[in-house]
Amino acid sequence: MPLHARPALEQFSSYAPARSLESIQREYGFERVIKLAGNENNLGYSPLAKKALAESLEGLSYYPDPYVTRLRETLAQRLHVEPAQLIFGTGSFSLISLVAQAFINPGEEAIMADPSFGWYAGATTQMDGVIIKVPLKDHAVDLDAIKARITGRTRVIWLCNPNNPTGTQFGRAQFDRFLEGIRDDIIIVLDEAYLDFSEDADFANGLHYINQHHNIISLRTFSKLYGLASFRIGYGIASEELISLLTKAQLPICVNHLAQVAALASLEDTEFVELVQDNARKSKQLYYQTLETLGLDYIKTNGNFIMFDVGTDSDDVVLEFLKKGILVRGGKEFGMPTWLRVSIGIYEENQLVLTLLTEILERSH
Ligand SMILES: Cc1ncc(COP(=O)(O)O)c(C=O)c1O
Repeated sequence: MPLHARPALEQFSSYAPARSLESIQREYGFERVIKLAGNENNLGYSPLAKKALAESLEGLSYYPDPYVTRLRETLAQRLHVEPAQLIFGTGSFSLISLVAQAFINPGEEAIMADPSFGWYAGATTQMDGVIIKVPLKDHAVDLDAIKARITGRTRVIWLCNPNNPTGTQFGRAQFDRFLEGIRDDIIIVLDEAYLDFSEDADFANGLHYINQHHNIISLRTFSKLYGLASFRIGYGIASEELISLLTKAQLPICVNHLAQVAALASLEDTEFVELVQDNARKSKQLYYQTLETLGLDYIKTNGNFIMFDVGTDSDDVVLEFLKKGILVRGGKEFGMPTWLRVSIGIYEENQLVLTLLTEILERSH
């Protein structure tokens, strides 16, 4: 007899992450691949974290601290919240799933912008929820249109700010207006994976909202700014009430010891943080200038990635890049088939991308 998973899973199409470096190296025989498809940190991670990790290799046969105590206390102090207002998970992917598991019953609705981060839809449908997708307006999350789609069945609203893949963000006045009159039993997720790359001071920072609104959660990650993507560690900040409900749905002991150690040490490394932010700022300027010279449409970005319109099927351009050992993301999956999304790499990598792009466009004319 064939095996049957729950109906929700039979309908489910898995999230397709960017390919790993190793699989591309193996397939194409490259010694070196530049990966600019997963919005990771090509500058690596903090030397302080490396040192702390090297000193933490004893004791790994024991379970890690289930409460993530040291990191919890340090972050609580920095963010001026109570330790009980934090929840840690194996990356913010897991926290997105946790929100869905805790709040979405079969047939209930969750709303997201489109295009936005794909896992909101995945996590919702895994729970037999119905995902409502609301198109972006001028590449930005359309809060008014999202609000207009709220029904009695709405349980969660997923808001990615800055938005992946477009890099746009919404500010405080916009978000304040959005919140007016919204039922306070709808969970509003502010996914702030990229907030550290925002260059626009008008940002609706979740931290300003969580104490007045028991239904808002800010999700953050150590994968981007701190370059700890492989360690799988992210966290949420919310009311104690919301955190305690999420904790009930969570796997016990889910943040490994090395992730806890690396995250804690990374927080102390202001030098590394400045290096990463400085590199991103300069690289974005380089992109803007070059794309303007090339006459290509682009979206100003508050993330560590940029989208631009290559004016032709971008899958072909992805392939051209791949032949040179550079992995970038085509826009088809975002409904933007002539656009590319390129993660901001090390400055020299970005120079290489732009030189190659110029060559490809010249060849195609
Ligand atoms: C908007 C957004 N949220 C969450 C994640 C997942 O991050 P993590 O590595 O913390 O699971 C990503 C990863 O790319 C992302 O783009």
